[in-house]
Amino acid sequence: MKILKTVKEVKDEVKAWRKEGLSVGLVPTMGWLHEGHLSLIKNARENNDRVVVSDFVNPLQFGPNEDYDNYPRDLDRDAGLCEKAGVDVIFAPGIEEMYPEGFCSYVDMNGLTGGLCGKTRPIHFRGVQTVVNKLFNIVTPDNAYFGEKDAQQLAVIKRMVLDLNMNVKINGCPIIREEDGLAKSSRNSYLSPEERKAAPIINKAMTKGREMIKNGERDAKKVIDAISEIILSVGITKIDYVSIVDSLTLEPVEKIEKDILCACAVYMGNSARLIDNFSLEI
Ligand code: PAJ
Repeated sequence: MKILKTVKEVKDEVKAWRKEGLSVGLVPTMGWLHEGHLSLIKNARENNDRVVVSDFVNPLQFGPNEDYDNYPRDLDRDAGLCEKAGVDVIFAPGIEEMYPEGFCSYVDMNGLTGGLCGKTRPIHFRGVQTVVNKLFNIVTPDNAYFGEKDAQQLAVIKRMVLDLNMNVKINGCPIIREEDGLAKSSRNSYLSPEERKAAPIINKAMTKGREMIKNGERDAKKVIDAISEIILSVGITKIDYVSIVDSLTLEPVEKIEKDILCACAVYMGNSARLIDNFSLEI
């Protein structure tokens, strides 16, 4: 496995693979890898001749008061996990490599990004789209892998690829959870022991919401209220949002009649903002 830091090195490596007719899978990450990331890598490993993992905490997708500085970083640890998982190349650029002086081009969209996480994180998806676009141009993957854990991100990337005729297949991968149901996340490392103990309430509440819909409830507000009540029953939580939206447009629905995404973001104490979601075909 190679750890490459420059765009040129990655482009040269991919060029050599292409000469041999090999297919390439890309797994974009911000590092501090856990089983969620590793499930994406496994999927990429099984379906491509070569696998590239990018490991870059992207400053463009963090708002001014967010956790960019504190975000956990450990390239050696990530490299060990990637090596074991059969990754061919880790692309771990410095900030200047991705955003050299004078950088001023962005990728953005008008739909899909106004609600859910976009409401409290207004520049987030522009940052994600821009960096993912750059990674696609650098690696030119046949396949790219994204987790359903970040459902809005997955929808945004799929839409961007469709709208801009990009030559990459986007593969969504299921949410990987801890044994107690908490969705795995690099940000779980922010949780105090007390918060960690309380955090599975999020998945418990979402499971209740899913059951209500499966049992025939079609009033979105009733489901949202039930989920919110369970989350708030643990004193240290604050809800950013609980929403039920159309899976494709991400517009809120009142009546649950088409395929939906039910998503939430919850603050735990002062330290962490955790997300979770489920999708249902109606
Ligand atoms: P990061 O949070 O590191 O996540 C990288 C990928 O792993 C994303 O596609 C995310 O959805 C997936 N992932 C994280 N936790 C998961 C879990 N518990 N189960 C399944 N998949 C999971 O998402 C980003 O980085 C960045 O926004 C990025 C796309 C790399 C752009 O900077």
